[in-house]
Amino acid sequence: MASDATPAAAPQAHGTSIYGPFSQQLSQVMDLIVERIETFDAEQRSTTGEGAYEHFNHRIKSEASMREKCERKGLPPTPHSALVDIHDAIGCRIVCRFVDDMYALADHLRSQPGFSVIEEKDYVRHPKPNGYRSYHMILDITTPFIDAAGRTPGHYPAEIQLRTIAMDSWAALEHQVRYKKDIGHANAVIVTQELKRCADELASCDLTMQTIRNLMNEDR
Ligand code: GTP
Ligand code: MG
Repeated sequence: MASDATPAAAPQAHGTSIYGPFSQQLSQVMDLIVERIETFDAEQRSTTGEGAYEHFNHRIKSEASMREKCERKGLPPTPHSALVDIHDAIGCRIVCRFVDDMYALADHLRSQPGFSVIEEKDYVRHPKPNGYRSYHMILDITTPFIDAAGRTPGHYPAEIQLRTIAMDSWAALEHQVRYKKDIGHANAVIVTQELKRCADELASCDLTMQTIRNLMNEDR
């Protein structure tokens, strides 16, 4: 979540925040999601001795990124666009050690009271053509306070990305390459092919790592 992170929902120097009067609620919703994820991690640690994830990041999408996204999608820069039409004002990226851990965490989040799934994209079972892998969920979080559509209880969307360490390192590299403008066409073609090959090799490693872990757990 590096590119569009912080400063959280800070108002612009001139004018008000695109999140309007909902900035504080937005932070509260993110804190709630973080708490549920951290609680699950602590439970897993005490029952299995292993945490639910390797690390995770979370952010409120910055003013500039949210305004740019509204413009790109032809939406007016309003709290309704930012918090109802667009679903990633809140973003959590959870990086797991093993593929099974990703799905266990997705199951856990899906079953949380007050959380429901708006959309899921399984780019692990169905990778993007460039090789990108991750499990994406858009959650709808029911809250006691009002939302940008005027509903009480309010509904706030949040994007959750679940990845393995291998998928995360690939995505970071690919992201960096994508924004490099000074690569010639011939090299760009090779880079794309090689990135895809690398993604597939890493996916194969993830499978092997999962097998190793399963074998180790069999002896417990
Ligand atoms: P939006 O309208 O922007 O939400 O697009 P979308 O819903 O089609 O996007 P999707 O859910 O596929 O991906 C959203 C996020 O996933 C991006 O902001 C990235 O963080 C990540 N992502 C998706 N595809 C790629 C990719 O090919 N490479 C990398 N590095 N990240 C990706
Ligand atoms: Mg999206």
